[in-house]
Amino acid sequence: MMAAGADPSPAGRRRFASFLDLISRALTDAAGDGGGMPGAIGQAFRSLLAQDDWLDDEFARPDPDRYQQYLLYCDARRRFSVVSFVWGPGQSTPIHDHGVWGMVGMLRGSEISENFELRVGRLVKTSEDVLTPGRIMSFTPDGGDIHRVRNAYADRVSVSIHIYGGDIGSIERSVLGPDGVRKPFISGYANRRLPNFWGEV
Ligand SMILES: [Fe+2]
Repeated sequence: MMAAGADPSPAGRRRFASFLDLISRALTDAAGDGGGMPGAIGQAFRSLLAQDDWLDDEFARPDPDRYQQYLLYCDARRRFSVVSFVWGPGQSTPIHDHGVWGMVGMLRGSEISENFELRVGRLVKTSEDVLTPGRIMSFTPDGGDIHRVRNAYADRVSVSIHIYGGDIGSIERSVLGPDGVRKPFISGYANRRLPNFWGEV
């Protein structure tokens, strides 16, 4: 395994490109089932996370002021996107929803997701997920997709990989206040250029 932060290895790049191909095929196969989160992704995602040799250092770079959301890939038909989330020490999101299914896997460090439900006009915390390298969690709009996420560490960077059932940076979704009041937001992406995985599979 290469040291975290090194340039990706050719084998690592191929593994990531194969993973993208697998998601695309799984979504095509599941298209008749309503376009939900394909179950076939989970095991492949675990395998991808087990070897930290494929993420370009450019997309693992923290910002001193806020967490970074780098787009690694977006499906041409915007059926899914893959993002690296980079947490500086102590950084966190507001409480927010997604509007599409999502799967989060830890690559480096650790993050904590506090999960909420809207009950009679107020937000109630229902559970907490602590992700460590190799662990994954998922959510769907139907099953509850409101959470607040933070770096578990106050003194080091953490990196997680997110897969969403749409072009997450362009989707209008909500930040929620403690009273459950929603404010619309569109996250966008931190990067101006995309990694190129074409030609790898
Ligand atoms: Fe989220």
